[in-house]
Amino acid sequence: MLSNKKIILGVCGGIAAYKAIELLRLLTKAGADVHVIMTRAAQEFIAPLTFQTLSSNPVHTGLFDLIAEREIGHISLADRADLFVVAPATANIIGKIASGIADDMLTTTIMATKAPVLFAPAMNVNMYTNPIYQDNEQKLRRLGFLFEAPVSGTLACGWEGEGKLTSPEAIFEAAVTVLADKDLTGRTVMITAGPTREEIDPVRYISNHSSGKMGYALACAARRRGAQVLLIAGPTALPDPAGVKTVKVTSASEMHTEVMARVAGCDVVIKAAAVADYRPQVRSSNKIKKNNDSARIELVKNPDILAGLGMMDRGSKPGPFLVGFAAETDGLAENAAKKLNEKQLDMIVANDVSQPGAGFNVDTNRALLLFKDGSRCDSGLMSKDLLADTILDHIVAQLAKR
Ligand code: PMT
Repeated sequence: MLSNKKIILGVCGGIAAYKAIELLRLLTKAGADVHVIMTRAAQEFIAPLTFQTLSSNPVHTGLFDLIAEREIGHISLADRADLFVVAPATANIIGKIASGIADDMLTTTIMATKAPVLFAPAMNVNMYTNPIYQDNEQKLRRLGFLFEAPVSGTLACGWEGEGKLTSPEAIFEAAVTVLADKDLTGRTVMITAGPTREEIDPVRYISNHSSGKMGYALACAARRRGAQVLLIAGPTALPDPAGVKTVKVTSASEMHTEVMARVAGCDVVIKAAAVADYRPQVRSSNKIKKNNDSARIELVKNPDILAGLGMMDRGSKPGPFLVGFAAETDGLAENAAKKLNEKQLDMIVANDVSQPGAGFNVDTNRALLLFKDGSRCDSGLMSKDLLADTILDHIVAQLAKR
């Protein structure tokens, strides 16, 4: 997600400096080339060697370090950066930048860069709410600096309130969003994710192994790329993605109702949810007792939501670009092609869920992408985040042809 991106991670002096280590790990894992600049105070909390080891790059600590300055000095870092992330950002650094002060490696480099700068503040609640700090933040926001707000909680100083550094995951997400192409700006994308549950009685249900990871990865990627995203999700353990309107459902019938009620105005619909094909004909209102050696549950067919969308009368308009998924254990290409045609889709993402590292409840996937015009391509095994972007790349290219 961040390959070929050079990110400068500024670390200031605060107890939250240890969280910058996890942030660095997330950035490097996503492929970024990260160069760390530590203030003098930051080095009181963490040794530079930790960041050096994890970034595989020298850590910059002093403005007048002659060797480092000759090889990759502050101007060079400032020029080569795609993004600056300052986490934790103290009231001190924000005050200095707001006042144009450049008296150490971090402040001089920020002042010299044309790259976007994202601050993740962390400080005592009274410092955070102090009008001087708030004025400085507002001034920097007006000048185009970005902020990932702190959260409320118990602060290291013992106070309760706002000022706690937000999670490394949230800062990572903000960084990826800043760097993403905004090629879905102005588009509304509906995504379904997760399993459905079809209740047998108050304690039992029929479902499947879907974790929602694939659909949620698509929702996050579409939002980063500028889309308005509507996520219709079955029961999952995943947190609601920031900036995405998430509607929770349980059964296939509920998902059907929500999708149909909200599809008008969507430019793209991606159905990554693993919808139960059948539901019990009768849901017992009491727990079914264990009486016999065997039991029978009569099942009836659920509405096929995707097929319903494919058959929708779109009048003279092209209607939403329809993307289905196909979860197969055999005959991947043939079965997926059949679904593509029968459900009148523009594109289908076929995954062989019997393969290791693919399909249900893992962080990776491998998909065969098939298109209405007969073309196809194999994604290879990759993270679900990367596959989400690959799928969206194809959708953006197809939308441009409409
Ligand atoms: O959630 P994860 O753990 O990350 O796992 C990801 C995944 C395996 C669930 C995902 O990659 C996937 O394959 N999703 C589709 C699963 C599925 O239901 O496949 P299917 O071949 O049975 O259905 C074909 C298409 O019709 C799907 O887009 C499905 O959403 C849709 N469908 C199916 C039945 C139904 N009643 N209504 C539908 O809309």
